[in-house]
Amino acid sequence: MIDDGERLARTGIVPRNDVDRALATRFSVRRFRPDPPPEDLVGHILRVAQRAPSGTNMQPWHAHVVAGATRARLSAALRAAHEVPSEHRQPYAYYPPEFFEPYLSRRRKVGWDLYGLLGIARGESARMHAQHARNFDFFDAPVGLVFTIDQRLAIGSWLDHGMFLQSVMIAARGHGLHTCPQAAFAPFHRPIREILAIPETETVVCGMALGYADENAPENRLVSERAPLDEVVTFHR
Ligand SMILES: Cc1cc2nc3c(=O)[nH]c(=O)nc-3n(C[C@H](O)[C@H](O)[C@H](O)COP(=O)(O)O)c2cc1C
Repeated sequence: MIDDGERLARTGIVPRNDVDRALATRFSVRRFRPDPPPEDLVGHILRVAQRAPSGTNMQPWHAHVVAGATRARLSAALRAAHEVPSEHRQPYAYYPPEFFEPYLSRRRKVGWDLYGLLGIARGESARMHAQHARNFDFFDAPVGLVFTIDQRLAIGSWLDHGMFLQSVMIAARGHGLHTCPQAAFAPFHRPIREILAIPETETVVCGMALGYADENAPENRLVSERAPLDEVVTFHR
């Protein structure tokens, strides 16, 4: 892994305060150490994250914290489900049916950058499959989170839910923890529902790995790129 200083240098961001630092040093960690964060700290992070805003204060989110034997059982069920994807169905459209520019290039770039660090070459589909399967072990994180939303809610509540997700990730960062949000979980909502007793009225939005980053892992050296500001921001003067 690269340390926060090198990560900041690679992003080109000079933090001006601790909030800047938490935001700019968050990244998707894909290999965690086995030591678990204290449960009290996980609860604290979720309590702080719950200060996220939401339209008319509806707070349209629910988080399941999964550790210990339940996490092991969930991972085993997800690994098995991932081997028979045709039996599972994405519950909501996270991506468009076809990718187009500029999103297609950005998506390809981060994918190949990750595979490059892992020494996975084009065409090595078994190794790509195995890397994708690591999602279901929460990338070895000792704590996993599963986020759900009431299926009757509208798109606005999904915005709110996203703010909750980012708040969890930033609050975690403030305590030296790292995360990886995981939409890979969504298609496998059936086994997730069974193990976590999630009612049919809730949609599984995503999972999230939470823990301490493995500092020696090549995959944690990835610094994903961002578009130049003028591509995504228009200042009207
Ligand atoms: C809602 C959401 C779902 C994601 N799902 C996955 C996933 O299933 N597996 C994974 O490895 N990364 C996943 N990511 C991480 C993205 O690939 C990552 O955020 C993006 O490449 C930018 O990199 P960074 O998070 O390191 O800045 C997800 C990110 C978001 C916001």
